[in-house]
Amino acid sequence: MSDQKRGMHGIWSGRWTFILAATGSAVGLGNLWKFPYITGENGGGAFVLVYLACIFAVGIPIMLAEVLLGRKTRMSPINAMAKMTEDAGAPKFFQGIGWMGAVSGFFILSFYSVIAGWSLAYILKLAGGDFAGTDAAFAGETFGNLVSDPVGLTIWHSVFMLLTGFVVARGVNKGLEAALKVLMPLLFVLLLILFGYSLTTPGFSQGVHFLFDFDFSKLSGESFVVALGHAFFTLSLGMGAIMAYGAYMPQDQSLGKTILWVGVLDTMVALVAGMVIFAIVFSNGLEPSSGPGLMFQTLPLAFGNMVGGAFFGTVFFILVAVAAWSSAISIAEPAVAWAVEKGFGRISATAAVCGFAWFLGLGTVLSFNDWSTYQAFIFISEISVLENLEEKTHAAFYLFANTDVLKAEYINTAAVTYEIKGKTFFDTLDFLTANIMLPLGGLLIAIFVGWFASSDMVKKEANIQNETLFNVWRFVLRYMSPVAVSVIFLHGLLF
Ligand code: PFF
Repeated sequence: MSDQKRGMHGIWSGRWTFILAATGSAVGLGNLWKFPYITGENGGGAFVLVYLACIFAVGIPIMLAEVLLGRKTRMSPINAMAKMTEDAGAPKFFQGIGWMGAVSGFFILSFYSVIAGWSLAYILKLAGGDFAGTDAAFAGETFGNLVSDPVGLTIWHSVFMLLTGFVVARGVNKGLEAALKVLMPLLFVLLLILFGYSLTTPGFSQGVHFLFDFDFSKLSGESFVVALGHAFFTLSLGMGAIMAYGAYMPQDQSLGKTILWVGVLDTMVALVAGMVIFAIVFSNGLEPSSGPGLMFQTLPLAFGNMVGGAFFGTVFFILVAVAAWSSAISIAEPAVAWAVEKGFGRISATAAVCGFAWFLGLGTVLSFNDWSTYQAFIFISEISVLENLEEKTHAAFYLFANTDVLKAEYINTAAVTYEIKGKTFFDTLDFLTANIMLPLGGLLIAIFVGWFASSDMVKKEANIQNETLFNVWRFVLRYMSPVAVSVIFLHGLLF
């Protein structure tokens, strides 16, 4: 193969390698940690349906566009978008897709590594039998102790970032590909073991009902934004990770079928993980809506009280760590590839990217302890007012403040109750990336490939044999995705 066709970073060695790599990127904390807890918070079945619609109607078509841009140029997303924008004579701001993606990548990698670090800590806790026969208070306390200790969190965060850097530094074939060939089969075997186990638990059918019975009254405007944002997050779209992996894809591989595989596998893992987790939650009479702590508080408690729980619990957290690892390498890859194109060695590029993300991650570490009261986007609302039997409403907004100080100002009395809702550093990064930057990146990619890139080039690269299917895909990119993303955005902002 000529150098031109290979690009400077290398190429996946086999047909299945791209599927393995892209699935490795897609399947991660998003599927195992985030999907179950946001489904729990948004009431179950109806949310799952909206999420599935977002995956198939918006996510997969955009994924195809993103991979196409990468494979066409065989460069890092920043340089790929610079070249494509110039070739298409499109407005310069489309180049911003690459840059915004790099910023999103740093943000995501920084907090991803901290949460993945929790799963490393939990492997040891479960293997050591810490939860055997304990109760909810103990599980809450254990989680509380972990997150309130900035030093411990920093150590686990550092270990995970080193693991990520180690693979990325070794390059596309010797690093990424070699690791994925071991990690991905392991991930599927672990998930199957857990699924088999969950089938034997009494809460299995209740879990299935929770995931698949639709109750639309539980959906809010925000649920739609969360579902869309999560579709981008779970498919690794809108920031260049999939574009970078597309740059290493062999030329003769058919895009359409390959991408469909990735989307379907990612969705299956999320649904199977959901069934496993809710089966265990319901078997123990626990609440599905407990938020980000679902996986770290509810599950260990459940495992601790089940036959064989220490073993299966350990297996579960190994699964989480493996999935997070194979995703984290894809988050680092676009920025590393760009630095290599700038002339840096791969090892120093990796050290710089992972080092910077590690530093930013300290903000997430502190979000759970020393900085937990420093919050942004704070809404204060009166939730019940009965003063002289007269209703009084009051709401205030602060861009950034110390919520402890605010609480002191708004002292709750019997008649007036205030609710303070704000976002910590971690919440802010999570919200900005998943709910704003990734959908925006995806929207721009859809518009670029739908409207600006040359039709001939797109047709040739996509190589979709079936004419109707090709036309449907283009229609989705041109009209449906931009309209869907814009409407959901506006809905989320206004309601
Ligand atoms: N898709 C990953 C997950 O579901 O955990 C997270 C992710 C990876 C997001 C790569 C974005 C990205 F570019």
